Amino acid sequence: MKEERIPKHVAIIMDGNGRWATKRGKQRSAGHLAGSKNLEKIAVYAVQRGIKILSVYAFSTDNFKRSASEVDYLMNLFIKMFQTEMKLLKKNGIKVVFSGRKEPLREDVLKSMENIVTKTKENTNGILNICLNYGGQEEIIDATKKIVEDIQKKKFHIEDLNKENFYHYLYQDLPPIDLLIRTSGEYRVSNFMPYQSTYSEFYFTDTLFPDFNEKELDKALLEFNNRDRRFGGNSQK
Ligand code: IPE
Ligand code: IPE
Ligand code: MG
Repeated sequence: MKEERIPKHVAIIMDGNGRWATKRGKQRSAGHLAGSKNLEKIAVYAVQRGIKILSVYAFSTDNFKRSASEVDYLMNLFIKMFQTEMKLLKKNGIKVVFSGRKEPLREDVLKSMENIVTKTKENTNGILNICLNYGGQEEIIDATKKIVEDIQKKKFHIEDLNKENFYHYLYQDLPPIDLLIRTSGEYRVSNFMPYQSTYSEFYFTDTLFPDFNEKELDKALLEFNNRDRRFGGNSQK
């Protein structure tokens, strides 16, 4: 049997919480709660499967367009998650990092984010990169500003800029995404990690995020193993 290739960096656009709840005659918030519980489970399983980095889209900059009550519910849910429910991550040696803008996140949300980062920073089994108040175009703009600043301070020379060191200026200096999953049957990326996904394998599933369990991740990994990644070159098979 051929050896299984485990992608180093997997990303999930965790979509479909609202529809999951509506289908059950519940409020959208019930879907977000179910999604948050699932995230913890799937992050632990991903590390157990040997995935070193898992990036998840938790809240986009554009999600602020939603009703104040939904945004508030989500922000309070994040605080609760980062303060309590992330115990499993600590136990499994998972380090949490965040990608996104601070503005206009609430002070208490920012505090709870710092809290989980500090509590897990020595962990080495895997990295969970939570994209919260994240936008991909925003990330490129913010990186560009940091580069210009460094050039002005003479800490960096424009001629030295290349595809590799551009990563140092992103929110997190992580390797490119090998496998990008989107749940809920939408075939778009909604401003998620454009710089890091130029050669990612895309996997779309109709499964709504709260139902995206261990078995579903295994299906995506199996599919990844059947892909022929060429990176513009010739077949590797
Ligand atoms: C994803 O689920 C979670 C967030 C965007 C915060 P949605 O809330 O987008 O769920 P649907 O797409 O409305 O079903
Ligand atoms: C993308 O989902 C953002 C997250 C999953 C956090 P959305 O539900 O916000 O995306 P659109 O609006 O369907 O493109
Ligand atoms: Mg959605």
